[in-house]
Amino acid sequence: MSDSGHLEANRANWDERVAGHLVGYDTDGFVADAARISTVVRDDLALMAGHLPNGSVRGLSLAHLQCHIGTDTLSFARLGARVTGVDFSGAAIAAARSLTERAGLDASFVQSTVEEAPSAVREQFDVVYTSIGVLGWLPDLGAWARSIRRLLKPGGLFYVRDGHPMLWTMDDETDDDLVVRYPYFATGEPLRVDEATSYIGSAVLSNTVTYEWPHSLSEILGALLNEGLLIEAYGEQDTLPWKALPFMIETDPGGPQDGNWVLPRGRERMPMTFSIAARG
Ligand SMILES: C[S@@+](CC[C@H](N)C(=O)[O-])C[C@H]1O[C@@H](n2cnc3c(N)ncnc32)[C@H](O)[C@@H]1O
Repeated sequence: MSDSGHLEANRANWDERVAGHLVGYDTDGFVADAARISTVVRDDLALMAGHLPNGSVRGLSLAHLQCHIGTDTLSFARLGARVTGVDFSGAAIAAARSLTERAGLDASFVQSTVEEAPSAVREQFDVVYTSIGVLGWLPDLGAWARSIRRLLKPGGLFYVRDGHPMLWTMDDETDDDLVVRYPYFATGEPLRVDEATSYIGSAVLSNTVTYEWPHSLSEILGALLNEGLLIEAYGEQDTLPWKALPFMIETDPGGPQDGNWVLPRGRERMPMTFSIAARG
């Protein structure tokens, strides 16, 4: 299958997930509670703060790549940033625009692939942000890093947090232990994944086949360094904002650190996510 065939299969799958995610991401609760910030943005802000003026995004322009239905993007709007979300799914962008209206917020959403985002958006930003479930959908991290460099103002902050490349190698069907099943290094070919449900909500999908690319840490860091970005911080975390492996346990259900899962005691042998803060 061609690259565009992979992209169209992935887009059909993401378009179809949107209706279920509007419920799964509790968008009604997001609208009803004007103070609500997503768990992901809450945790990212803590990691980004040391790289932001006064530790805050207030007053800054922020581009969010692969923004999905906009709950994270709009969380940054609630924190005072001027936000632009980008996603290749027309259904996700329509949902994000409607959520913006329902929440009475100000934000702009653009339908575009990551690769084409600089020409679709035609603006440079103080912050370029992307997180959680993003890199595996991209075949070419060189093109990803080029877009980031072009979207960033000189001196601007790029921030990413995503599933750790080692996490994506794990067998997510065995309840036994941490078992390496998938490749760590890029193979040139995507993995073909066939799943009838999404990671949240109970909707059953008809566009079940997706194509996902493994990227090693050296490939991720190398792509950013190649574009001249200056890496200010690299982190690894032991929590994950979804239950990726059957034996993971929720950290603090209903508490101030809710929305995260960890490996159970005795099996906490690997990182769950990584984060990078880099300067344009
Ligand atoms: C797991 S979601 C990111 C989710 C975000 N962390 C959230 O929870 O709202 C991945 C997003 O990437 C988008 N996507 C996948 N491939 C893309 C591409 N090549 N260009 C732009 N967006 C893409 C999908 O439409 C989807 O909204």
